[in-house]
Amino acid sequence: MDLIVAGNRDDLAKARGTGSVALVPTMGALHEGHRSLIRAARVRADQVVVSIFVNPLQFGPNEDFSRYPRTFDADLDVCREEGVHVVFAPSPEDMYRPDRQVSVCAGEMGTIVEGASRPGHFDGVLTVVLKLFNLVRPEVAIFGQKDAQQLAVIRRMVADLDLAVEIVGAPTVREPDGLALSSRNRYLSARDRAVALALSRALRAGAAELTAGAIRSTARAVLDEAGPDLDLDYLALVDPATFKEVDDAYEGSAVLAVAARVGGTRLIDNVVLSLRH
Ligand code: PAF
Repeated sequence: MDLIVAGNRDDLAKARGTGSVALVPTMGALHEGHRSLIRAARVRADQVVVSIFVNPLQFGPNEDFSRYPRTFDADLDVCREEGVHVVFAPSPEDMYRPDRQVSVCAGEMGTIVEGASRPGHFDGVLTVVLKLFNLVRPEVAIFGQKDAQQLAVIRRMVADLDLAVEIVGAPTVREPDGLALSSRNRYLSARDRAVALALSRALRAGAAELTAGAIRSTARAVLDEAGPDLDLDYLALVDPATFKEVDDAYEGSAVLAVAARVGGTRLIDNVVLSLRH
């Protein structure tokens, strides 16, 4: 079976088969983490569509939109190897009308934790994801747990706007030493990479504790040990559905999330844990 590459919405409409569709939205620079999303998609539908689109709306003015890695030919090889049926790779002009007015607002969830550091980011994510849902019309869409707040706001959009698509969260893929896979890891020097390992180390140490207070302080101590080369943005212990901070009385599943800059590269990671009394 040949991979179909649809470079615009008309080609995409022609490529859609008659069976069920699973969508894997990406910004390209595909790595092992994306391969795991594609594999999760393949077992859930007849046809797998991978979108590759570096979405300008979700980057702030001082972020890495222009230098975000673009590796289209290698991405197509990954898609071929993983048995993807269609790659949808629209241009920004095909995606966004020049006179566009309306966008999706992520609400309060878009303004806290990651959203507090990246104003407008989640509005941009939701706007493109809703457009992708409308263009591809998938029965199911797969997103990585690595972007835990993104997953939560997308689930919230689906619930609040009554969208007929099932959202599946797929586990974070890590290097053997714990570093969460990310397209931005390629920005890291060997030295940065060694410093960046403090993120997953802190999450593991925090997750071994039992109370919200101990989880936060233990993880924070590991991050502090990394010294000034790690510029901590936030460490948050939150309810996975709302992304609001939890207190010591909270019971149930929680997300311990961290964001930090290492050598100019902003990295995020998280772990899901369970709080009981
Ligand atoms: O997770 C990403 O790569 C992006 O945020 C997404 C979901 C493809 C939207 O641009």
